Amino acid sequence: MTEPPHRRRAHSTTRDLERYAGLFAERTRVMRSSAMRDLMAVTARPEVISLAGGLPDTSTFPPGTFAAQMTKIAQESAAQALQYGPTEGFEETRDCILEVMGAEGMLPDSEDVIVTTGGQQAIDLVCKTLVDPGDPVICEAPTYPGAVPVFSSYQADVIQVETDEDGMRVDELERVLGELEAAGRRPKFIYSVPTFQNPAGVTLSLQRRRRLVELAAHHEVIVAEDNPYGLLRYGGDPLPPLYQLDGGDYVVYLGTFSKILSPGIRLGWAVAPPPLMEKIVLGKQASDLCTSTLTQYFVREYFAERRWREYVASLIDIYRARRDVMLEALEAHFPPQAAWTRPEGGLFIWATLPDYIDTGDLLARALREDVAFVPGQAAFVDGRGGSSMRLNFSGVTEDEIREGVRRIGEVIAEQVELFETLTGHEVGSPVAGRQSADPPGAADVLPFRRSARGGR
Ligand SMILES: Cc1ncc(COP(=O)(O)O)c(C=O)c1O
Repeated sequence: MTEPPHRRRAHSTTRDLERYAGLFAERTRVMRSSAMRDLMAVTARPEVISLAGGLPDTSTFPPGTFAAQMTKIAQESAAQALQYGPTEGFEETRDCILEVMGAEGMLPDSEDVIVTTGGQQAIDLVCKTLVDPGDPVICEAPTYPGAVPVFSSYQADVIQVETDEDGMRVDELERVLGELEAAGRRPKFIYSVPTFQNPAGVTLSLQRRRRLVELAAHHEVIVAEDNPYGLLRYGGDPLPPLYQLDGGDYVVYLGTFSKILSPGIRLGWAVAPPPLMEKIVLGKQASDLCTSTLTQYFVREYFAERRWREYVASLIDIYRARRDVMLEALEAHFPPQAAWTRPEGGLFIWATLPDYIDTGDLLARALREDVAFVPGQAAFVDGRGGSSMRLNFSGVTEDEIREGVRRIGEVIAEQVELFETLTGHEVGSPVAGRQSADPPGAADVLPFRRSARGGR
């Protein structure tokens, strides 16, 4: 009789940890878990309404189209689709990428494009190529929570620049760049999500975009423009991407099919000038040799149908309605001391509560009511964001949004009441967040004022 395979214990014991502790690389000390990944484990319970993820609604993709394309690939190109591919990605995939970028007015050279395993790998490869331990990397405050663990794992010295309703404060950036220069330190790159930012939902104004690329050229600093959401616009006029304004000299562009097609296919890309691209390709070779050939075939087939823009248009209709439902629900269920953004696109709303509410603690309470959000601290490297939260409206139905926001509103109301009982403050008094001098309706716009608290 054969022995059953040895099963490993699910959890590490203290002894296990001790045995491995001496082996861990230095960088593992500063590695951080992505708050969203942790949360996804908790929110996998079907009864939980998760406003935490950044999930596109993949149920909107027609299963018949998916089946037909995969069948076609199996019948016509099975051997190639199951084979390794070039590290840079197939030329046909890069043509699809050029089409997507063309829809936002960009015309890169196909040679400057590399297909990556999601946009996440593109961020990783930029860091791998540029960042030594201790190197300054500048980003927005708040920044994409999924970028924080990447920056940490390369031991970057992350400097966050304040953000308001017009995106990154470029005047602050100028000050930071000046200070670094005076100290003889060269930032390796500025990471920005200028359009419908994750997590704040804000968009960098045209004037600031122009100034940002000017500053990048003047200081000879690379800007990594991460733009997963640019095509998901629900109102207002499109603004030129930084890449278009700069012409690709200092701006490295990061894109993804995740939010306009599917995150499951894990296809993203980076566009960089040749000297940088050469190193990025070497970095990718070492990481995973090539991006999935099978899903590159899928994208090629899908784009051949020439219906991808129709699909994006259908997503826009669905997400616009969900955003509006969330804004209405926030108005109805959040206390008057709260403030939140009104994004013109993308997948997220950022809400800020009175200072005395810790959204990490609030999440624990909210999970007991089977609802989840991302606590704001995940978007900062220095502990700021403690009374803010990121709310997603794309991966949940309109009814779930109403119910989820109602439940969060209830747990906030408990906290407000508790605070008022303990301190004698009156309900609705502007404890924090909204300031009494604000014009009517100012609570609709996230002030970001308290972000100065944490210093740099
Ligand atoms: C700003 C930003 N960059 C990168 C990513 C990573 O996307 P993916 O790896 O699925 O392409 C995301 C995902 O939410 C994002 O919001």
